[in-house]
Amino acid sequence: MCLALNNFHTPVLLQEAVNCLLSSGNGIFVDGTLGGGGHAEAILQRLQPQSSLICFDADADAIRHASQRLAVFGDRVSVLHANFRTIKHVLSEKKIECIAGLLLDLGVSSYQLDEPSKGFSFQTDERLDMRMDRDEPLDAFAVVNGYGEKELADVIWKFGEERQSRRIARALVWNRERMPIASTADLAKIVSGAAGGKFRTKTLARVFQAIRIEVNRELENLQKVLEDGITLLRPGGRLVVISYHSLEDRIVKQTFKSAAEGKNDLPFLLNPMLPHQEPAVTLVMKKPVIASEEEIRKNPRARSAKMRAIEKR
Ligand SMILES: C[S@@+](CC[C@H](N)C(=O)[O-])C[C@H]1O[C@@H](n2cnc3c(N)ncnc32)[C@H](O)[C@@H]1O
Repeated sequence: MCLALNNFHTPVLLQEAVNCLLSSGNGIFVDGTLGGGGHAEAILQRLQPQSSLICFDADADAIRHASQRLAVFGDRVSVLHANFRTIKHVLSEKKIECIAGLLLDLGVSSYQLDEPSKGFSFQTDERLDMRMDRDEPLDAFAVVNGYGEKELADVIWKFGEERQSRRIARALVWNRERMPIASTADLAKIVSGAAGGKFRTKTLARVFQAIRIEVNRELENLQKVLEDGITLLRPGGRLVVISYHSLEDRIVKQTFKSAAEGKNDLPFLLNPMLPHQEPAVTLVMKKPVIASEEEIRKNPRARSAKMRAIEKR
């Protein structure tokens, strides 16, 4: 880990997200995805005196980097090495019952993608790992070498939307029966051989994304934190989410829509015995906020970003 603080990650939709989050006023705010601390720093610079910020990240490297960056804010900020799926439990341990806002800037940071030892990228040759949190037991090696052929095909199809998922899964199983698939380069070579063609890079990106999502349980964790986040918000509090691919955005959009329509498919919010009830939240914007041309020019990662927000009623 040798990246300078400034290279760690460039925050996306920085002003848009912070303005949206802080318009709910005073209180305890949570940044569920601290990363390089860019959003957190901007929040802290504008936080009112009685307010504070609690930050989560599953990645211990992010925690180390961002803790240094945010040290100047003293006890107005606390930084926790924890998965955001545990938000309810962690806050209840701190005797916090409600929050003024929650920001989630999903996915991985530039540091995580660029740091070879994380094993997230098909551009470098490293051990197959892909865990955001090295304390978690499941890594990419275990998924690629341990899942059955159908299970693998399902992961690649569901989380990568890759049409050649079955052919790729067959090739993975055929190869690993001869020798374990131990590195990102081995994986990339087998995937390219099975389904490369002229869309090789896109196929690789989809397969690596799928395995990363499976390893880190990204979609399950997202659903959980959205549900717990909505429950924790105080009236007027805001939940702001920036997503980077259609699988994440679909979950955010659907959960927000159900909560805003008072539909009873969110049993955590509503009484499932009643067909229709008062909505728990309002949508802050109907269409997602996207990055400006200028931001995309400076930071191409912003191209796929979509920001949505809700306010608790
Ligand atoms: C896009 S980066 C956030 C960048 C950050 N907003 C900034 O300004 O630098 C996403 C971060 O969220 C973390 N993350 C992703 N899923 C998580 C989860 N379930 N729990 C905690 N942290 C998570 C990743 O480790 C990564 O550091």
